[in-house]
Amino acid sequence: MILASFSTFILLQLSISLGFFVPPIQSILSHTSLLEQICRQSPHYHLCVMTLRSSIHHRSKADIAGFAHLTLEIVNANASITLEHIPKFHGQTEDPKLKMALKDCLVSYNTIVKVHLREALNAMDVGDYRAVQQKAYVTIIEAESCNTKFRNLATSPLRDTNRYVQNLCAIAISIAKKLVLPYQLPTSI
Ligand SMILES: *[C@@H]1O[C@H](CO)[C@@H](O)[C@H](O)[C@H]1NC(C)=O
Repeated sequence: MILASFSTFILLQLSISLGFFVPPIQSILSHTSLLEQICRQSPHYHLCVMTLRSSIHHRSKADIAGFAHLTLEIVNANASITLEHIPKFHGQTEDPKLKMALKDCLVSYNTIVKVHLREALNAMDVGDYRAVQQKAYVTIIEAESCNTKFRNLATSPLRDTNRYVQNLCAIAISIAKKLVLPYQLPTSI
């Protein structure tokens, strides 16, 4: 009986000390190391670190949802300006095949910006992280659809952009996944 209540006491002490110690340990993890950790688990480590590190200073809140939101905002900014630039590329070429490809990509980027990424950001705002992943995924497919239009052409003015959009969306998906499953710090056994 005494032993039982003693171990209950120990357990109680343990949970109290855990209760007291876990939050400070987590708060010691600076923005940088959270970013480090998120990017290490993403498919494009360097792009992830470069993209998020350069923008993180503008944010006060560097939680995981913040990183996912930021990634989507950055890809959205790139895609939106791309959408505006495509007609310019179209006007700069006389090649009918290239013109055709750019026209198809205009449709793709219009869908990416006005539908998929807009919905992804809306889903982010309401905390529907599964929808975030789906919308980022269809963005990847749409960018690939644009990419294939240049397959038999000598140049592709949108190749780097398509890859960038796809890679950032893959990063956004990997971050959003952590928000669906309760995020856990790696534990050592
Ligand atoms: C989007 O990103 C790609 C890859 O970094 C870059 O080549 C392209 O110029 C960017 N587009 C805009 C409009 O900023």
